[in-house]
Amino acid sequence: MKNIAFFGGGNIAQSIIKGLINSGYCTKNIFFVDRNSNNQKALKKLGIKKLSGAKHKIDIYILAVKPKDATAAFQTILKKDTKPKIVSLVAGLKTKRYKSFGKNIEIMRAMPNTSSKYGLGITAIYNSSFKQRDLSRVIKLFEKIGIIITVKKENKLDAFTGMIGSGPAYFFYLLKSYEKRLLELCNGNKKKVNEIIVNLIKGVGASVENDKDLDKLISAVASKKGTTEAGLKSFKENKLKKVFEKGLKAAIKRSGEISNEY
Ligand SMILES: NC(=O)c1ccc[n+]([C@@H]2O[C@H](COP(=O)([O-])OP(=O)(O)OC[C@H]3O[C@@H](n4cnc5c(N)ncnc54)[C@H](OP(=O)(O)O)[C@@H]3O)[C@@H](O)[C@H]2O)c1
Repeated sequence: MKNIAFFGGGNIAQSIIKGLINSGYCTKNIFFVDRNSNNQKALKKLGIKKLSGAKHKIDIYILAVKPKDATAAFQTILKKDTKPKIVSLVAGLKTKRYKSFGKNIEIMRAMPNTSSKYGLGITAIYNSSFKQRDLSRVIKLFEKIGIIITVKKENKLDAFTGMIGSGPAYFFYLLKSYEKRLLELCNGNKKKVNEIIVNLIKGVGASVENDKDLDKLISAVASKKGTTEAGLKSFKENKLKKVFEKGLKAAIKRSGEISNEY
């Protein structure tokens, strides 16, 4: 695959683009369309060009606008290209909605997350009408920025949207409690606090990567009548796990609802 064009160049597009550039993808093969001047500036800074319909032949379009803008943006692509191959990153919107706009459209969906920027992305992929060769190219593209998982049923993407697309934000949210307490402990030294949080998370990642069994990892930290046990006991009494699972459920449900809204 040579030329790719991001239609919508905000948070997720920029994460993917940065990840691709870091992986060695040539900037001259990446194009964008975006109406937001701040995002335009950020994209130009990355060395990628604005798409000019007449000049550039695009192999794959990546639709990366908010759900409310998706059908309008999609139709704009159709005006530029009569046989487009489009990968939609848009949460919720089902492929049958896009297919209602024309016959010659190759469409598939991908649900990535912002960790793609560091080559640590997780992208769930659902193919609706891409030909095998094009699908393989898209898979290879997303493999440059992390791992991929292929789903056979489109409604499974809702779960990946709620858990993986949104996933980083839940961890950032939990880390805010650490940040607050650590800032007190470190006399407001933000740099130090950032270092501590980074090592905490990297260490957790390395432990999970090496040891895999989460219960074993918990018991390796928690000793009888110790501090961890006290913390875990309080979490259990306050049903933290249930609250967290409820949050995931709400996000997954919301992904399904978006589909009916636009
Ligand atoms: N952010 C994530 O972590 C994440 C993860 C997985 C999937 N997604 C999905 O990716 C999509 C984009 O999310 P995002 O967070 O990247 O959104 P975003 O930061 O708002 O970026 C979207 C960009 O597209 C522009 N745009 C919208 N309609 C346009 C049009 N017709 N022509 C030209 N530019 C247009 C927007 O301009 P304006 O600012 O002027 O509207 C904005 O710059 C969403 O559907 C979301 O569900 C996001």
